[in-house]
Amino acid sequence: MEFHRLVAARRSLRAYSSRPVEPEKVERMLEAARWSPSCGNRQSWRFVVVGRDAPTRGAVEEALDAGNAWARRAPVLIVAGAGRRDGAVVESREYYLVDAGTSLMSLIYRGVDQGLLVHPMAGWKEAPLRAALGLPDAFAPMAVVAVGYAGKPEELDEATRRKDERPRVRKPLGEIAYSPMWEEPYAGTLPSSPAKVFETDLQLRFGDTDAMGHVNNAKIVTYLETGRVRFFSEVLGARRVEDIRFILAEVSCRYRIPILLHDRVRVRMRISDVSRSSFRFHYELADPGDGRVFVEAETVQVMYDYATGRPVPIDARVLAAVRDYASGG
Ligand SMILES: Cc1cc2nc3c(=O)[nH]c(=O)nc-3n(C[C@H](O)[C@H](O)[C@H](O)COP(=O)(O)O)c2cc1C
Repeated sequence: MEFHRLVAARRSLRAYSSRPVEPEKVERMLEAARWSPSCGNRQSWRFVVVGRDAPTRGAVEEALDAGNAWARRAPVLIVAGAGRRDGAVVESREYYLVDAGTSLMSLIYRGVDQGLLVHPMAGWKEAPLRAALGLPDAFAPMAVVAVGYAGKPEELDEATRRKDERPRVRKPLGEIAYSPMWEEPYAGTLPSSPAKVFETDLQLRFGDTDAMGHVNNAKIVTYLETGRVRFFSEVLGARRVEDIRFILAEVSCRYRIPILLHDRVRVRMRISDVSRSSFRFHYELADPGDGRVFVEAETVQVMYDYATGRPVPIDARVLAAVRDYASGG
């Protein structure tokens, strides 16, 4: 998976299916962790893999906090941490925790890359975990990681399902990154949390559906195009086709729920990434009534000079208009 998709796909969701995890997938996760960077190459990370049938499994499940009871369904639990004495120390900085965190991230992403749901947890009791797994004092367990395939949210209890339905929130870039001094916000190209997302409603036609009564997958690409044309017209003031000087380089769709003819469909779209001569749209096709997301999609557009047949840098005015719109202007 491309890295930006991997970042977007990773979620700490809680509904696990009972489908077993192939041992080779777990091994690849550990292998990715093994190749992580570490201070002084001390590789102080350690992992204990506890499968469904392991004799230690019951005790590890017991050590989980009540709020993490959902993790008992995960076929594999991995205890991740680092050896306190194995890590490098620079001045007074102890790097074993950085080693543990860095390798944990590689472990997680390699799992997500293989289609797995990987959820790290801090909610467990250390003493029973230590006793169950025979962890030495010098080893600091940092996370119990649930590994498995995503299951059905409706099989979760109400409170846990609500947690998974909460909107994802992140601090804006300028709040977590500074330049060139502490608390001087780093200026990103686009606002990291757009104040305004472009929305437009679609008119479905009978001819869009296939023999199953679903909107045909190929039509979805046309829906995205409708969204783009309206975006260019309404946000950027394009009046003619020639005003839209880009070519489409990439389309990807994740079909989540079939769209039926009677469904109401709204396109919600924003520019999610800008490079020198290309930019990326992120789309959601959703029901404006109940918020169900039918399709998530992305497209990459390359600004293009049709006369010379070559990519050209993105026009500064276009970028300014997009920035202005996303900032709520
Ligand atoms: C070190 C660590 C400990 C966490 N502990 C728990 C936990 O005990 N229970 C839980 O449900 N989620 C836990 N999480 C998941 C976070 O709640 C989650 O990463 C955060 O809300 C952001 O959501 P996202 O991972 O889906 O982007 C933990 C995450 C990390 C990195």
